[in-house]
Amino acid sequence: MFKAIEWKHDKVIILDQRRLPKEICYIECYDYQSVADCIRRLCIRGAPAIGIASAMGIALGAQNIEAKSFDDFMKKITQIMDVMLSTRPTAVNIKWAVDRLKTILLKNRDSSLTDLKALLVKEANYILEEDIEINKAIGKWGANFIKDGDTILTHCNAGSLATGGFGTATAPMLIAKEQGKKIQVIVDETRPVLQGARLTTWELMQAGIAVTLITDNSAGALMRKGMIDLVIVGTDRTTSRGDVANKIGTYTVAVLCKENKIPFYVAAPLSSIDFTLDSGDMIPIEERPAEEVTLISDCRIAPEGVNVINLAFDITPSEYVTAFFTEKGVFHPRDIKKLKAKDINLESIRLKTF
Ligand code: MRU
Repeated sequence: MFKAIEWKHDKVIILDQRRLPKEICYIECYDYQSVADCIRRLCIRGAPAIGIASAMGIALGAQNIEAKSFDDFMKKITQIMDVMLSTRPTAVNIKWAVDRLKTILLKNRDSSLTDLKALLVKEANYILEEDIEINKAIGKWGANFIKDGDTILTHCNAGSLATGGFGTATAPMLIAKEQGKKIQVIVDETRPVLQGARLTTWELMQAGIAVTLITDNSAGALMRKGMIDLVIVGTDRTTSRGDVANKIGTYTVAVLCKENKIPFYVAAPLSSIDFTLDSGDMIPIEERPAEEVTLISDCRIAPEGVNVINLAFDITPSEYVTAFFTEKGVFHPRDIKKLKAKDINLESIRLKTF
């Protein structure tokens, strides 16, 4: 099975997702700048995966830091963290990973420089391993909402490639299959970068799941024909009131779900929830180069100089979300804010099946 990212012998190995499914090739990163560059250019993408990549990039950068004191080390590592934070603004996972590494460092401020560097490597690898376990838990909870014979629609790629492994939106599908349920997945191609067509189909076919690829503008027609039972998507950032930032086009799918009375589920690890924000309108939305829209595989499909709007993400207000699949259970959007508290009685707010 492929891995989107791996720490190996003091370097970070990244599967170059821009070239999938045509070619399987890996980029070896020896410094944090190369990792940041991979994130910017979408060689690695997907909220949890870029969180992991940032953590590994920071750990890699730390190895070359020379510092006279803990404060000096913090000053230098903060500059590397800022580079990671500047790569992509929408997913909260980069900030989440940065905060986690900062906490580890502050807790160990009396350790030697060598130990601090080793701690960062250990934590970055742990974030990756933990992510896989979180996704499996999301899968177990989410699979309860998938029935034998269901057809599920997904948008973009919230699969193994977008995470440490197993995926968030794909996890319930994989577990449902393991449980012996016969399921089918319909994948939106996801213009402009085609994460659905290139990545999600590739992954799910390898997992032995029946996949059908559609153009983004077909989803409504299929829903009206009764061909879709439920939708599961991932998220780059979800606010405390349950507004969801995800790949551009997600909002359209959610509105179509409401119109056609189809459940719209969001697979959201807690690392993707930004409890500091209430409204989705506060989430910064990344704008990407016009060429992503005007060219397909270097082939021009629109006149040179045409005006382009290329928003990478959109916001789906919480009222369109049926429920969130998290590692702690399945929750109604109104209960998302409660997950911040450590002593919450989860059983009392968890949704069973609908
Ligand atoms: O621009 P991308 O490919 O990074 O966008 C990815 C998505 O929108 C995913 O749905 C999201 O990050 C969740 S991944 C588990």
